[in-house]
Amino acid sequence: MRDDIILSIKDLNLVFHDHDAPETAVESFSLDLKEGEIVGLVGESGSGKSLTALAVAGLLPRHKLTASGSILYKDLDLLSISRKELRKIQGNDIGMIFQEPMTSLDPVKRAGTQVEESLRIHQPEIKKDERKKKALEMLAACGLNDPERVYRSYPHELSGGMRQRVMIAAAMIGAPRILIADEPTTALDVTVQAQIVKLLTDINKKQHTTMIFISHDLSLVRKIADRAIVMQNGNIVEEGESLDIFYNPKHEYTKKLVAAIPEVPQVTLTGGWINK
Ligand SMILES: Nc1ncnc2c1ncn2[C@@H]1O[C@H](COP(=O)(O)OP(=O)(O)O)[C@@H](O)[C@H]1O
Ligand SMILES: [Mg+2]
Repeated sequence: MRDDIILSIKDLNLVFHDHDAPETAVESFSLDLKEGEIVGLVGESGSGKSLTALAVAGLLPRHKLTASGSILYKDLDLLSISRKELRKIQGNDIGMIFQEPMTSLDPVKRAGTQVEESLRIHQPEIKKDERKKKALEMLAACGLNDPERVYRSYPHELSGGMRQRVMIAAAMIGAPRILIADEPTTALDVTVQAQIVKLLTDINKKQHTTMIFISHDLSLVRKIADRAIVMQNGNIVEEGESLDIFYNPKHEYTKKLVAAIPEVPQVTLTGGWINK
């Protein structure tokens, strides 16, 4: 693997076998992710974006689908390593955030406890006070301006945007080298969406976190991603620099995605990620 490539997906195929006939959800997907870049995965609902992300995060529903190909990270094939090895990588090396934090945050655990989770698992030597200090710093770094209050809150006591920031804090506290964001702003209004995108680009710049940003919205992918991959029915139909894809789409399907983009107001933002 080339030195600047942090993750290499080769010929990934994901086939469901829980029905009478096998059903291919992702076909021959390949991607070399360069250290520090943000790659956008874009496509309509059902095109295989989330399954591709789950494959990288080691979270595939293995009981109902078969995965082939390889996902190389640090000379390990994430598709074939043991659960134990995978757990070491999850959170520590590869973090993931999802569309609706309400479903991925535990409703009965305080936000602070959930932000600290990855530290408890991967760095048990860190003492309770120190852990809390790090969690508060991370909440503040993620733009939550009353971190003490958020730390004590339950998910339902926070707004959608605040919950997404808590999710990002929980993912980033382990300082993962790769962050996968699956439609992280889809459930949010336009202003909050722009703030979250700003936070993610700040993290990318300051921490050099490599990112896979998933969205059905090509205009959003254009804003955040260096490179974009367009997926349709489990296949890559077009890829290239995201600006190029946005302004000069080649494939008919991409042209349709561009045509479907509504005009959205631009939002100017301030504030940002701390240097650790
Ligand atoms: N249990 C299942 N059996 C068969 N196909 C499935 C199953 N679950 C998901 N799929 C297929 O996987 C495809 C990709 O899903 P997904 O990765 O979630 O798409 P996206 O995130 O792009 O909306 C869906 O179109 C669906 O047909
Ligand atoms: Mg999805």
